[in-house]
Amino acid sequence: MIITIDGPAGSGKSTVAETLAGLLDFYHFNSGSLYRGLTAYFIEQNIFEINDEFTKKLKNLKIDVKFIDNVQHVYVNNIDFTEKLRNSLVGELSPKFSVNTKIRKLVDNCQKKFTLNNNVVIDGRDIGSFVLPNAEYKFYLDCDINERAKRRYDELIKRGESVTLDDIKSKIKKRDEFDMNKEIAPLKIPENAIIVDSTNKTVQQVVDEMLKSIEIK
Ligand code: DC
Repeated sequence: MIITIDGPAGSGKSTVAETLAGLLDFYHFNSGSLYRGLTAYFIEQNIFEINDEFTKKLKNLKIDVKFIDNVQHVYVNNIDFTEKLRNSLVGELSPKFSVNTKIRKLVDNCQKKFTLNNNVVIDGRDIGSFVLPNAEYKFYLDCDINERAKRRYDELIKRGESVTLDDIKSKIKKRDEFDMNKEIAPLKIPENAIIVDSTNKTVQQVVDEMLKSIEIK
């Protein structure tokens, strides 16, 4: 069975997907990690933008995902990049590389292959709309921008970073605009998706709401 969860940055997709997958005993497959893994690979090759070197490296690029002790590992050309996925430069450059059609095809194929023979909760931005439109259950997880900004702010303050709430809010706004208006695979509500709003809700409340929809169908 395939359950997809799409939604804007900071809506809690990943945490919700992880919890839901744990309860159902499914794999939690995070699609952003694949774009991040490829970005980490390019950074390691000293490639920071789409240029001739990038195009050359694209030719023999291979991406794989394996689960070890229930943790998703991302391999690019057989090298494990999992440790580098959350690196801030990776986060900064991944939107740039993720708009490339060959990169998207590589990631899409990897996702399709994995979901063929596994029970999966997969979260991203284009999964229910483009990659796996025939998934059994498709969710769109939304959340008010003020709450998304506050969550991100608390997370960064906890990490000791010096940031302002206004600055974070304007970055999230820009990110939404970019994600929703990009030419290839823009963020949108997938056809027949169940919309869940996580504003003012705990992870458990959101997951319970999803479980109810899964039972009802
Ligand atoms: O959700 P995230 O920040 O880990 O995603 C990393 C990058 O991958 C981000 O630039 C958006 C992109 N992405 C995408 O284009 N499509 C997806 N399904 C998931 C992520």
